[in-house]
Amino acid sequence: MRMGLERAFMDGMCLGNDMSIQSIAVLGAGQMGNGIAQVAACAGYDVTMIDINQDYLDKGMVAVKNSLSRVVKKERMNQDDADLAIAKISTSTHKNAASSADLVIEAIPEIPELKFSTFSEFDEICKPDAILASNTSSISINAIAKATNRPERVIGMHFMNPVPVMKLVEIINGSATSPEVTQLVLDACEKMDKIPLSCNDSPGFVSNRILCPMINEAILTLEEGVAEPEAIDGIMKLGMNHPIGPLALADLIGLDTILHIMNVLYEGFDKDPKYKPSQLLEDMVVEGKLGRKTGSGFYNYE
Ligand code: CAA
Repeated sequence: MRMGLERAFMDGMCLGNDMSIQSIAVLGAGQMGNGIAQVAACAGYDVTMIDINQDYLDKGMVAVKNSLSRVVKKERMNQDDADLAIAKISTSTHKNAASSADLVIEAIPEIPELKFSTFSEFDEICKPDAILASNTSSISINAIAKATNRPERVIGMHFMNPVPVMKLVEIINGSATSPEVTQLVLDACEKMDKIPLSCNDSPGFVSNRILCPMINEAILTLEEGVAEPEAIDGIMKLGMNHPIGPLALADLIGLDTILHIMNVLYEGFDKDPKYKPSQLLEDMVVEGKLGRKTGSGFYNYE
């Protein structure tokens, strides 16, 4: 993590009113939302984290504090900068708290109708020139943009999990996204010490079109009894230099999310069988074995 606060504040002082994005509202205080709030605050942005109840917000702030204490322990940031970053995040259960934000980053559950209604609502609440970004991992940016009256100011900002650690932000341009909006968002990502890479709207974008079929194939390999989870993951870790194996990664992402993305790919590519979710994946989701978040998936976490 960049020790970016001092530099960010100095940039702010030097650039004055030229800084186009100064305040960010993050919708959702879950795993992705609190990570995004953290990296935005560390970059010097004023951040408002919004969720439907105070308990979620409190848990989100605990996650930010825990993550920053790891960074401080590693001596990548001093405690004063960590405290400054925490102080940059305010929380609210009121949607209107996003009304003055320059950039809104939505990180709510992956339910298409919920995303559409949220974007329609925030289109009304936010100032006309605010950029509305979605951290969606699979829902069409064009479909989300259609729910607003500002499709040219709607874009995908797909952060990777765990947000404080992973460098990539996949930037998804809708067919109406303006080049000015893309540039502002690319600049904001760089300020957050991330590496943004752009693509066009298409099922699964780039990341999940490639990642999720690989994970699904690993699950099929297990389902067919070819190898045990430890061997499948070990082969991919040691043989392909992946940081963790595909089954452990599925547990980290959440099996419900993987299934949802596979279904988006399957439907989006006219039921091409190469994207068909494996039966074992479907069964585990029905059984509530969703990975780390439920304490069990391909491995146990209790
Ligand atoms: N906050 C701050 N620092 C953290 C952290 C957090 N939440 N989590 C881990 N870290 C730091 C640790 O302090 C540690 O730092 P050092 O290198 O200085 O020791 C470092 O990250 C590595 O952590 P650990 O030693 O605890 O564990 P690890 O070596 O197993 O690494 C990992 C953890 C970085 C998550 C690694 O397992 C990994 O890279 N996994 C793959 C992650 C991945 O592929 N993510 C993409 C998922 S796909 C997605 O998100 C998109 C989608 O739509 C599905």
